[in-house]
Amino acid sequence: MKILAVSDVPSLSLETLVETAPERYADIDCVVSCGDLDREYLEFIVDGLKKPLFFILGNHQFETSQYRETNIGGKYGNYAGGSTDLHGRAEVFGDYLMVGFGGSIWYNGKPNQYTEQAMARIVKQVERKILLMRLQDKLRGRISKEVIVISHAPPADVHDQPDMAHRGFQCFHHFIKRIKPLMWMHGHIHLVDAFKNQVTLLEPATTVANVFSCKMVNIADHHIDVHSHCVI
Ligand SMILES: [Fe+2]
Repeated sequence: MKILAVSDVPSLSLETLVETAPERYADIDCVVSCGDLDREYLEFIVDGLKKPLFFILGNHQFETSQYRETNIGGKYGNYAGGSTDLHGRAEVFGDYLMVGFGGSIWYNGKPNQYTEQAMARIVKQVERKILLMRLQDKLRGRISKEVIVISHAPPADVHDQPDMAHRGFQCFHHFIKRIKPLMWMHGHIHLVDAFKNQVTLLEPATTVANVFSCKMVNIADHHIDVHSHCVI
C-alpha cells in the first residue's frame, strides 16, 4: 500500500506536482490527512489525484460539528467525493483496517480538544470494535487485517513536546499494546525542517511517523518505508 500523507503545513512542492504532474501519483492507493490543513488544500489534492482521502481534524480546524451534522449517516466528510472522516472509526480499505483519532489534548477549551479520559473512551470503543472484528475473523477462519492509524496528536512521549498543547495521549499506548497496529501516522508536531523524517519504532511492532507537511509511506508486507519528500 502506498500512501500520500499530509499534515499541518501545505507543501508547495506537492501543490506544484499535483498541478503539473499528477501522473507521478498514479500508483498511490490513498491520501491521508493528519489534521490542521485547510479544506481547500485537501480538496485540491484529491480533486487533482482522484484518490480516496482518509482524514481526521486537528485542533486548529473548527468545522467538526457543522460538517458532521451535514454528513449523510455521519460517515463521509464534506471534502471532495470519496473522503472518510476516520475519527473514532475503523474502516476496511483493501487489505488494511484504517483507524483515526482526531484532535489534541485539552488545553484551552476550543473545539477538537480532548482530556485524556475523553480520548481514552474513544480509543476503548475502537479497540472493542477491532477485537470483535478479529474474533469474527477467527471464527470464520480468516486472517485479520493489519491496522493503520492516523491521529493528529502523537502517543505520549513519542515525538511530543513538553508544553500543554503538544503533549501526546497516554491512552494511545494502550491501543498500541492491545491492537499492535502496523503503522501510526500523526501530525501536530511541527519540525524546523519539513524534509526531516521523525520515525520511531514502538514495541512490539508499530512504526510511528510524524507526517509534518508531507510524507510518502510505502507499506509492503511488514516492511515500511517513510520518505521525507512528497514524491518517491
Ligand atoms: Fe495541531
